[in-house]
Amino acid sequence: METPIVAVVTGSNRGIGRAICAALLKQTSRPLILYTVSRAGSSFDLTDLTVPPTAKIYPAQLSLTDQDSITALSKRISNEQRGCDILINNAGIYYFQEKIPAAQRQETLDVNYRGTLKVCQAFLPIMQKNGRIVNVSSQSGELKYFHPRLQAQFSDPNLTLSELDALVNEYSDSADQNTAMSEGWPPLAYFTSKAALNAATRILARENPHLLINCCCPGWVGTSLGMQAGQPPKSVGKRGSLCTRGRITYCFPEEGARIPLRLAVGDIGGISGRYWANDSVASTGDGKVKNF
Ligand SMILES: NC(=O)c1ccc[n+]([C@@H]2O[C@H](COP(=O)([O-])OP(=O)(O)OC[C@H]3O[C@@H](n4cnc5c(N)ncnc54)[C@H](OP(=O)(O)O)[C@@H]3O)[C@@H](O)[C@H]2O)c1
Repeated sequence: METPIVAVVTGSNRGIGRAICAALLKQTSRPLILYTVSRAGSSFDLTDLTVPPTAKIYPAQLSLTDQDSITALSKRISNEQRGCDILINNAGIYYFQEKIPAAQRQETLDVNYRGTLKVCQAFLPIMQKNGRIVNVSSQSGELKYFHPRLQAQFSDPNLTLSELDALVNEYSDSADQNTAMSEGWPPLAYFTSKAALNAATRILARENPHLLINCCCPGWVGTSLGMQAGQPPKSVGKRGSLCTRGRITYCFPEEGARIPLRLAVGDIGGISGRYWANDSVASTGDGKVKNF
C-alpha cells in the first residue's frame, strides 16, 4: 500500500480549519492520516463529510497557550507515525477592537504568534524531508500598516527569532504605555501578531531549507472570527451550502480553505518562506506570492 500522508491541522473543530480538513479528505489522491487538532480534543462533526476508506482521522488535543500540550502532540505523532508531512497552523484569535485590556493583547500575541511558533518548533524535528508547514496568517499582518522603521526591522533578511521576540516585546511595552500608535504600530494587536507570524515563517524557512514553510491570508471568510468585521464575502459553508451577497445567492463551498490547501498539497513551485494571498480578500483564487 502507498505510504499515507500524515497531516496535522490546528483549530480544526470549526471555521477555516474544519474546511481545510474537509478539503484534504476530499481531494487527497494518496492515503491520508489526518490529526484534527482542537482545544477540546474531540472529533468534529463529520455528518456532511465523506471520509474516503483510504483516510483515517485522529482527533487530538492542543492549546496554543499550553506548551505541555504542544510537546505532547509532537511526541504522540512521533510515536504513532514515521513523522509529519504537513502541518497546518490554522488556529488563531482576533479581538476586533482597538482598546482591549492588556491581558487580551497578551493573549493575541501568545496565541497567534508565540503559540504558533512553539508548534512549529515542536514539529520541526519530526517533519519529513520536503514536508510542508502552512501558517494561516492575515492581510492584517502586511507591513504597509507599520511605520517604515518597523517595516525595515520586520523585513530584515537577517532577522533572528530572538530579535523578532524583542520587537514584539517592544510593541507590548509601547501598548502598555499607550504610545504604540504614535510609535508607528497598527492600532490592533492582531496586526502585530500576524506580522510577527509572517516574519517567523520567513526565519524558519531560511533555517530549514529541507522544508517548504509558507504563510497566507485565507481571504475574508464567513466564520465567527471573520464576521466580527462585517459580512465577509467568502464562505466556509458546508458542501453545497449557499451564501447570499446582496440579493444574489452564490454557492462557494470551502472557499476559505483554498489558499492553505494549495500551500499544503498543491503546486507551489518549491517556494518557501513567502506570504501568499489573492489581490483582494474577496477573491476566490488559490493565492500567489505577495510582499509581506
Ligand atoms: N475568517 C477570516 O476572515 C480570516 C481572515 C484572515 C485570517 N484568518 C485566520 O484564519 C485562521 C482561522 O480563523 P477562523 O476564521 O476559522 O476562526 P474561528 O472560526 O474563530 O476558529 C478559530 C479556531 O482557532 C482555535 N483556537 C483559538 N484559540 C486557540 C488556542 N489558544 N489554542 C488552540 N486553538 C485555538 C479555535 O478553537 P476553539 O473552538 O477551541 O476556540 C478554533 O478552532 C485564524 O488564524 C485567523 O486569524 C481568518
